Amino acid sequence: MARNEAEPEAKAGVEDADLSGKTVLVTGSTSGVGREAARSFGRLGADVIVHGRREEAGNKVVEEIEASGSSAEFIAADFADVDAVDALVESVQESVDELDILCNNAGGLFRDAGTTDLGVEMTFHVNHLSPYQLTTGLLETLAEDARVVTTASIGHRGATLNLDRVVELAGLSPWAAYCRSKLANIQFSNELARRLEAADSDVTSNSFHPGLIPGSEFSRGFIAPTKGVTDFLKTLPVGDTPKDGAATMVYLGASEETADVSGKYFARCRQRRAAPSARDEEAMAELWERSADLLDIEEPLADAVQSGR
Ligand SMILES: NC(=O)c1ccc[n+]([C@@H]2O[C@H](COP(=O)([O-])OP(=O)(O)OC[C@H]3O[C@@H](n4cnc5c(N)ncnc54)[C@H](OP(=O)(O)O)[C@@H]3O)[C@@H](O)[C@H]2O)c1
Repeated sequence: MARNEAEPEAKAGVEDADLSGKTVLVTGSTSGVGREAARSFGRLGADVIVHGRREEAGNKVVEEIEASGSSAEFIAADFADVDAVDALVESVQESVDELDILCNNAGGLFRDAGTTDLGVEMTFHVNHLSPYQLTTGLLETLAEDARVVTTASIGHRGATLNLDRVVELAGLSPWAAYCRSKLANIQFSNELARRLEAADSDVTSNSFHPGLIPGSEFSRGFIAPTKGVTDFLKTLPVGDTPKDGAATMVYLGASEETADVSGKYFARCRQRRAAPSARDEEAMAELWERSADLLDIEEPLADAVQSGR
């Protein structure tokens, strides 16, 4: 069967959306799902901030967006580095007056991940802690009706997240580390939604699974024989494409249908039920508080939930 090669905005049914005057940051947009979403937001007229570590790849995406008539810039930041994420927050604040759409997409599965300078297991730091740091650092920069969209994964199902163990490496496989970070993504997105609502904010927060996508660069972290199988799958019309994955991100960022939806989990542009552990309110609150402790920052949006409890 022929693949649907339509652009993400068409797959999401938002090809008529006009994002001119809006600003979008897509983290991890040097390749894969993020790159396709950044290009799509650009085609819809938004000013786009492209992010990742690879400058050459980032600049190429900027050129592609500019060729579609929108403005774009690349900002590099390594999500395994707290200071780099602080610098990204500052650069975004210098670059835009307000941010309308924040897509927390950067992430991956990392072999031999080790721990970061913070003493935290790297996958958890890159995939969860840095998006938390970035989002909470940008709260004051978000437009009144901004949308925060977080790329999670179906891999969160069956994952366990023991926050006492995110500083340990013993007995942890790269896949288990990845899956628990994706569980954290949904818990974070849901808790952000809850706190924003308690603060009477119109900013929304949703998460999604982009599909199973052999055509992105996600398999960089795989080893043989899985790497060989994934590389082979890239040559076949199987699985989802980066454009399929980007469609749900663009749907959550640009569709009228999702303008007032918050605290939900999606796949294929439809609301789904995340695993019970991703909706466990006690776990969500604990992740929020412990993430602030790990980053040694004051608990963000703490007043809202204290007065709302
Ligand atoms: N592919 C799948 O089947 C699949 C399934 C479910 C969920 N996802 C999720 O989808 C998202 C995008 O992945 P993808 O499939 O599009 O893979 P990808 O092509 O490898 O894209 C990952 C992006 O994240 C950035 N990134 C990775 N590590 C980083 C770090 N330490 N600091 C800053 N940026 C970093 C990469 O940029 P640089 O390399 O330039 O730093 C790249 O732009 C991820 O969150 C992934 O977990 C993917």
